[in-house]
Amino acid sequence: MKAYRAALLRFDDQGLPLYDSDGLLVVGPDASGRKVVRAAGSHDALIDRLAGVAVEDLRGHLIAPGFIDLHVHYPQTDVIGAPASGLLPWLENYTFPHESRFADKAYARGVAEFFFDELARHGVTTALTFATSHPVSVDAAFEAAQARGLRFITGKVLQDRHSPDGVRDQTGQSLADTEALIRRWHGVDRLGYAITPRFAPTSSDAQLRGAGELAATYSDVWIQSHVAENRDEVKWVAELYPQARSYLGVYGDFGLLRDRAVYAHCIHLDAHDRILMRETGAAAAVSPTSNLFLGSGFFDYAAADAAGMRYGLASDVGGGTSFSPFHTMLAAYYVGREGHTKPGLSLTPGQLWWQHTAGAARALGLEGVVGNLTPGHEADFVVLDPKATPLLERKTAQADSLDELLFALIVLGDDRLVAKTVTA
Ligand code: GUN
Ligand code: ZN
Repeated sequence: MKAYRAALLRFDDQGLPLYDSDGLLVVGPDASGRKVVRAAGSHDALIDRLAGVAVEDLRGHLIAPGFIDLHVHYPQTDVIGAPASGLLPWLENYTFPHESRFADKAYARGVAEFFFDELARHGVTTALTFATSHPVSVDAAFEAAQARGLRFITGKVLQDRHSPDGVRDQTGQSLADTEALIRRWHGVDRLGYAITPRFAPTSSDAQLRGAGELAATYSDVWIQSHVAENRDEVKWVAELYPQARSYLGVYGDFGLLRDRAVYAHCIHLDAHDRILMRETGAAAAVSPTSNLFLGSGFFDYAAADAAGMRYGLASDVGGGTSFSPFHTMLAAYYVGREGHTKPGLSLTPGQLWWQHTAGAARALGLEGVVGNLTPGHEADFVVLDPKATPLLERKTAQADSLDELLFALIVLGDDRLVAKTVTA
């Protein structure tokens, strides 16, 4: 067992922030040997029970749950900042050519190592990430994550049509590869597999049907894809699937909407779609820096809440512009907020932070496992230094409430704020 003394942030069952200005986080093995939170709360309330336990003194810092990135593409680490008039030209001109390099496992492993270093620098301890269509890109990422002891989910991209040579796969082989990768990796250590059709336009009916069959057979495996990101994309799907009620409906028709299914973007949905999300248990990965960068649109928080659908925050690098959860939370605030040009919600800093931690865990079906620091959660956390920059130090010193403190961190924070990231 080991304890850490610092200010401590965690969330209650309602998603409301719990805060101790002088807190203690106690971690140690559970009955099966997993490193978990054994106790969390105020220092004075807990310290008497901890005779003999080493306490690391981190006073002046804030301990918070490790961030969860609900949708990111590790192979697009080097695609960040590629300009394009919109999603489809961006895919064709930058993303697909770049992803073709991941047929080389050594190249993939090099990018994966850099990606995990970057996640750690930014305080991200779990990510649901796309690999590429090449099975070796999945092995490379899992091997790197396993060596670091991370809770991490990825999968081989399925894309057997409307894709150039170098990334296009073959229907039967792609499904066989997916099943082999599930058997090799899903549930090994802290790793999980996600069945990963890129998006409806780049998969044949047969590939989507096969993906749905695998999702039924392996019911605790994740599903990840994209939906309703961009108007040109939505129009294209309507032409390809004239019989479907909507773009989201295509995935429903193939058995790809269920718990543990995470769909990036969910911007151009209608009320029916949002109810379908709630009823099936599928969740949205809200990707605000990507949606602003690619000009895709604005996630409708009010409509999502009215429907009761699940969602969490995501970087969507390389459409997204930053690995930093602080940048993503700030962009979510901009995207969500009401103003003179659009209706919306002004999200509180606690809500933004929850969406990138406990809320994202709930969207993944990992509530109670990661994303929070109440007892029983796996011990993935960040140590933040509110004095990391002169302006942060000045601003956080003046905070009169938890909301003011968290907002200062969200608005001014980046990787400099992350003093340490601890995984398990
Ligand atoms: N839709 C299909 N593929 C992609 C991708 O790589 N990024 C984004 N943002 N949207 C997509
Ligand atoms: Zn994406």
